[in-house]
Amino acid sequence: MRDYLARVSRHALVRTIRERGVELVKVCPGERVLDAGCGPGDMAARFAGLGAHVTAIDADPAMVAVAAEIPGITAQTGDLAALHRPGVFDVVWAERVLQHVPDPDRVVGNLVRALAPGGRICLVDVDWTGLVVDGVDDDLADQVLGVFRTVVPHPSMGRTLRRRLVRQGLTTVEVTAFLGVSTDLADAAAVIPVLDERLVPAPGAWFSAQREAAGRGEFLMALPVYLAVGSA
Ligand SMILES: C[S@@+](CC[C@H](N)C(=O)[O-])C[C@H]1O[C@@H](n2cnc3c(N)ncnc32)[C@H](O)[C@@H]1O
Repeated sequence: MRDYLARVSRHALVRTIRERGVELVKVCPGERVLDAGCGPGDMAARFAGLGAHVTAIDADPAMVAVAAEIPGITAQTGDLAALHRPGVFDVVWAERVLQHVPDPDRVVGNLVRALAPGGRICLVDVDWTGLVVDGVDDDLADQVLGVFRTVVPHPSMGRTLRRRLVRQGLTTVEVTAFLGVSTDLADAAAVIPVLDERLVPAPGAWFSAQREAAGRGEFLMALPVYLAVGSA
């Protein structure tokens, strides 16, 4: 998991989305930032580098142990569904977390309540229902991608981010959609689990069809990722 997250962090699309999010939340030195569902803490490190006081929370103690090694941040194990830190943070960042939680509205509510007056929240998530692969048989692609969507608890999370913030009473919410497109199978498989046979069990025909498409120079995949930024 740690290797996968490290590959995702290095990917050009993820770097582009993070740059835009960082621009929009405008973290100032001395501000209090929460990296919610921090994983190994890449964004926590980024905000600490901007001079913020960063708290990084994740449900997985192994991730927290990695994040805790970043100088200057406070890393804690915790379930965001139970987060109760009202009015504490100037900026809350939650990236690719909500697709995994059982009750996303509850978590978004806790995150919005954690904002101090004038605080900003940035949510980033994928819309797996918009993942398409071309160059392989359409029926096979529909079958495998359909099964993959049932594995992720909330596969359409990306497109729902804005409304979840609006439901929590935020009136200023800016949403941006990024469409990642790759014609390089190795590049795509590095960040899309359903293209990586080490990560997802799928018929062997699925992976061989992709390799054949790549061999013909016909492979293409596209995936939408959404970023929503709201202000308290
Ligand atoms: C795909 S990773 C993303 C990590 C990090 N945000 C990043 O962008 O690299 C999702 C993370 O959310 C964490 N997570 C999932 N459910 C959670 C919950 N209820 N409370 C806290 N963390 C949670 C997982 O442990 C995992 O580290």
